[in-house]
Amino acid sequence: VFDSGIGGLTVVKRLMQCLPSEDIVYLGDTGRVPYGSRSKDTIIRYAKQDAAFLSGFDIKAVVVACNTVCSVAYEELLGFMDIPFFEVVGAPAKTAAETTKNGRIGVIGTAATIRSNAYLQAINAIRPDLEVFSKACPLFVPLVENGITDANDIAALSIAERYLKELSDYKVDTLIMGCTHYPLLKSVIAKVMGQDVMLIDSGAETAKAVAKSLSESALLSDKKAKGAVKYFVTDSIDGFSALASGYLESELSGLVEQVTIE
Ligand code: DGL
Repeated sequence: VFDSGIGGLTVVKRLMQCLPSEDIVYLGDTGRVPYGSRSKDTIIRYAKQDAAFLSGFDIKAVVVACNTVCSVAYEELLGFMDIPFFEVVGAPAKTAAETTKNGRIGVIGTAATIRSNAYLQAINAIRPDLEVFSKACPLFVPLVENGITDANDIAALSIAERYLKELSDYKVDTLIMGCTHYPLLKSVIAKVMGQDVMLIDSGAETAKAVAKSLSESALLSDKKAKGAVKYFVTDSIDGFSALASGYLESELSGLVEQVTIE
């Protein structure tokens, strides 16, 4: 599983719930986060380096736990390794299309994800009649990477209000958190959008899709013991370990290693 930073842990957390016996190798490219404000060429280069690092392990699948990479570099990654790749756009798009009652779906993501129109295309491929309203929220990732995620935090709330107001005005009833970092801000986003708006988490939806696919391909581990998870980052381990331990509610400090992947 890889992401630009801590966001992919929202997928890992769900994978651990759905597939408790699987071993997971996680790479957070914390030295180069955020990806979402970078050019397509740079995102492709980073994504290939991330996948190449993971290919050094005995893995049976790669989960690209980054909407930005999936939106702009996924095609380039396919064929890069001869094992299944899973992306994080399709599953939440499908859930949102099935969930909306008023036909108005909001999508929030990084600048690159929103610019790509990947969600608009994925939703309209399922139901062309649905209206999709998109908004880039570039300050959300730095908030999360700095642990500013509390629903009572004035800075987080005011940034969220600024980004989300127009989606409220468009009266969306379903909002896709189209960046794996955003579920960490869920309480802030929910407070601003109100309880009538259904928030869709790309991590949760993707983990279910991965579990189903691995099971159908007879690729699931048959061991009974709990799977091991190892974490790699490309910047110092301290900040990541503290945030990740809090989010995963488990002490990770001995399990995180700093690596160079360039
Ligand atoms: N978590 C990522 C995503 O889902 C990347 C955020 C970023 O690095 O900008 O898009």
